[in-house]
Amino acid sequence: MKLLITGGAGFIGINLVKDLIKSNHKIIVLDKLTYASNKKEIKELAKRKKIIFNKTDINNKNSILKLINYHKPNKILNLAAETHVDNSITSSKQFIETNILGTFNLLECSLKYYNNLSNKLKKTFVFYHISTDEVYGDLKKNDQSFSENSPYLPSSPYSATKASSDHLVRAWGRTYKLPYLISNCGNNYGPYQNKEKLIPNIINKIITNKKISIYGKGDQIRNWIYVDDHISAIKKILSSKYRNETFNIGGKNELQNIVITKKICNYLDKKIIKKNNDIKKFSELIQFVKDRPGHDYRYSLNSKKIMNKLNWKPKVNFDTGIKKTINWYLNCKINL
Ligand SMILES: NC(=O)c1ccc[n+]([C@@H]2O[C@H](COP(=O)([O-])OP(=O)(O)OC[C@H]3O[C@@H](n4cnc5c(N)ncnc54)[C@H](O)[C@@H]3O)[C@@H](O)[C@H]2O)c1
Repeated sequence: MKLLITGGAGFIGINLVKDLIKSNHKIIVLDKLTYASNKKEIKELAKRKKIIFNKTDINNKNSILKLINYHKPNKILNLAAETHVDNSITSSKQFIETNILGTFNLLECSLKYYNNLSNKLKKTFVFYHISTDEVYGDLKKNDQSFSENSPYLPSSPYSATKASSDHLVRAWGRTYKLPYLISNCGNNYGPYQNKEKLIPNIINKIITNKKISIYGKGDQIRNWIYVDDHISAIKKILSSKYRNETFNIGGKNELQNIVITKKICNYLDKKIIKKNNDIKKFSELIQFVKDRPGHDYRYSLNSKKIMNKLNWKPKVNFDTGIKKTINWYLNCKINL
């Protein structure tokens, strides 16, 4: 099976690619290599001939068409995106260009390719779009979790562009009959994530002995999932018989940001005994700062559909996953 993966050098992308190369799939990665990508890692995989890599912007129509027609993938997975909410607030243009226009371009190129496939290849082809729980907006503490039928109510420029791209994918499915799949996942954590994101940021601040800034009271709740569990869900969805369907992928862990911060501090207190600046515990580095504008309070996903239809469930509990993650950052220091 030939899989063309956009954004394969990003956090989830590189974890997915590293997993998929263990099987006998042929992997073609297209990535613009923005600041958020794992450049060294993806180039190393290409050098070792584990994958084919091409540095490309998903907005570049000529290049995308040429690459799709040359490699003739059986399936296309779209993970390329601008993903940091804070960046989308300070400068939203790139989010519109990549997340909306880039997805539009990929859909146009994929449709052109799909329409020329033989009937046999059409049967297995799918455009699989990776999305987020943030498209549904946020919840109050005791609200029911979001299901696949919950209305879209995005709050940030990031989630609005992801919601737009989901709508485009469904429209291309319904109007032009391009077979698609969408999955909406909660907050991922694990190796290879850029240090702008909450968990690597906290680890980075602790090991560089800087203040850890936490928005508002730190009481926001996220539905955390270890990246390997997201990948096992993506693989189940990708190899399923389902088409033109959406699946929520939620972890079991709903945790407040401040609880996560303290867990990381406590774990590193035991690992790094000698501390600078007269502090006894890393939690002394925590400072509360003005809340992010429009900050979502709680995300929570109902994942019964994928659990029942595809027999998937997350395996990694938060305490195990966070220790693995911290140890990885301490050992590699790649993104810190
Ligand atoms: N990280 C999460 O918690 C999470 C949760 C749910 C869904 N998602 C979604 O999963 C996907 C991957 O997320 P991530 O956390 O790995 O993101 P990331 O920011 O770590 O990586 C994104 C990758 O996309 C590439 N990219 C950006 N713009 C591009 C463009 N115009 N053309 C080609 N490549 C481009 C970047 O170079 C990078 O390698 C995104 O669509 C995101 O919305 C992420």
